Amino acid sequence: MSDTAKLTVGDQTIELETTVGTEGEKGIILKPLRKTTGYITLDPGFVNTGSAESSITYIDGENGVLRYRGYAIEELVENSTFLEVCYLLMEGELPNKSEYDEFEDQITNHTLLHEDLKRMFEAFPPNAHPMAILASLVCALSTYYQDHLDSSDPSDVQLSTRRLLAKLPTIAAWSYKRSKGQAYIYPDNTLDYCGRFLKMMFGYRTEEYVVDPDISKILDQLLILHADHEQNCSATAMRLVGSSHANLFACVSAAVCALWGPRHGGANQRVLEMLDVIAKDNNDVDKYVRLAQDKTSDFRLMGFGHRVYKSYDPRAMFLRKSVDRVLTKLNTNDPLVNVARRLEEHALNDSYFQDRNLYPNVDFYSGIIYRALNIPTNMFTVMFAMGRLPGWIAQWKENHANGYPIGRPRQIYTGEPARPFVSIDER
Ligand code: ACO
Repeated sequence: MSDTAKLTVGDQTIELETTVGTEGEKGIILKPLRKTTGYITLDPGFVNTGSAESSITYIDGENGVLRYRGYAIEELVENSTFLEVCYLLMEGELPNKSEYDEFEDQITNHTLLHEDLKRMFEAFPPNAHPMAILASLVCALSTYYQDHLDSSDPSDVQLSTRRLLAKLPTIAAWSYKRSKGQAYIYPDNTLDYCGRFLKMMFGYRTEEYVVDPDISKILDQLLILHADHEQNCSATAMRLVGSSHANLFACVSAAVCALWGPRHGGANQRVLEMLDVIAKDNNDVDKYVRLAQDKTSDFRLMGFGHRVYKSYDPRAMFLRKSVDRVLTKLNTNDPLVNVARRLEEHALNDSYFQDRNLYPNVDFYSGIIYRALNIPTNMFTVMFAMGRLPGWIAQWKENHANGYPIGRPRQIYTGEPARPFVSIDER
């Protein structure tokens, strides 16, 4: 039996039902609040507000726990594959062998882009940010599949999800090729998901491209680590836009835009830019740890802090351990790794960061690994989007399955009270 919450406003006391999740998280159900009291809650940034009941991802931010559908991220990243995790997130269970084969086939069948879409890449300036290209082309995909956009038809939804998972890497790689002025490489369906992407990114029409299985594996692990993170900014954008019953492609495009911002997925690009600035400034990490505390400056340590994690982000923990392995494998010595390690050490020993529980998040070390894989800095957030896609789809599907109403927050109006119109010559 759940507790009841009592709320007293003025001389009125009302009882509100509560709910408890499977891991003990508690919520107060506010449904009758406005109707019975006339009050709404005001919670900018949703700091105390749950927007959904969800069975997809569980995070315990105090103890650094992350699970997809009950499976620990540490186990998934070591033992699973990205495609398996996609299936798990979207369908709710790990696939058996025949389900997996069918799923992989469905995706492999949709890796090509409509030839006309190629012209859209040319419409962008060569220095266009690949996130802008990604958001635009994902939305444009909907124009090619107008007969299969019904969000209430399970077969249309399934087809759209497969198309999205299949085509996102092609769009991502081609946006890179466009920026380099190189010929597009068509998807090679004899390869697996990550191998195919690597060939489209780094292959040339004139040469054979051999996928390095170790590189493909670390890329697959990066995608798994990014695959979902419950009600973050882009997942919320996905659910909100989806709640208007916009089609799946339009919703993913909105989520891509939300991810782009430097306070969300765009932080991975900013981390590398920040490390580069520090390296050029005599590696003076102390100066930047101090600057991040200066309230007169806008500067924050990129890749540090998280709304939910108040301890070490388990994804960052995995990546921190992977950095040496990847650099050794690639025979690279990146001086920015030392800057990152020193910056982390200084920040973690500083009372400002300790008092606010600010630890490295997933973006802190992911960029260093992407850089070692030769992925350019402005593509980092695109890589994040490729990984996060199954999570967005799972959140969208759940929102529809739960029959949630359109997302439409209320506000407390603080503007002028009613006043008469004044004609322009009297103003
Ligand atoms: N550097 C310096 N100070 C910070 C940082 C940081 N990276 N992050 C938070 N703080 C400080 C804030 O200034 C604030 O200090 P105050 O209490 O003295 O006012 C306090 O810590 C709490 O910060 P909020 O901004 O209120 O925390 P919130 O939960 O709203 O923000 C966020 C979380 C946006 C991630 C923030 O920590 C941040 O901007 N980090 C840098 C950007 C980043 O790495 N983003 C990636 C997040 S992970 C992801 O999206 C994949």
